[in-house]
Amino acid sequence: GGPVEVDIADLPPGGAKTAEWRGKPVWVVRRTPEMIAALQGHDAELADPGSAQTQQPGYAKNPVRAIRPEVFVAIGICTHLGCSPTAVPKGTANPSLPADWPGGFFCPCHGSTFDGAGRVYKNKPAPTNLEIPPHRYASDTRILIG
Ligand code: FES
Repeated sequence: GGPVEVDIADLPPGGAKTAEWRGKPVWVVRRTPEMIAALQGHDAELADPGSAQTQQPGYAKNPVRAIRPEVFVAIGICTHLGCSPTAVPKGTANPSLPADWPGGFFCPCHGSTFDGAGRVYKNKPAPTNLEIPPHRYASDTRILIG
């Protein structure tokens, strides 16, 4: 098939939806200004904060790993062994999460943690950041995945 269209007109700030592309779940998260701000300040804890590896198209190789900072698009599959990470909001206190958790994603299978841009924390089983699929905007509110 061709690209998969995701309509984000009805996605509230902080909301998320999951599309399916090539049999994989693709998350689309409408980030709030607070969620965007929370992407800063923890680079030292991340394995690849600058996205030096190739888990994203060139247009998403930036500090927010997105075309538009307020819209995060990522493949929702852990880069370790393929489990599904879950979204965990900022400030969640849990021994499995870094202290002062800025919000992001947690993989329950072996405990990998990712920030709100899908960047993996150091010393976790997942070797790389979450993958960003090829995508573009057909309009202000319609994203084409693939
Ligand atoms: Fe996610 Fe192993 S599959 S940590």
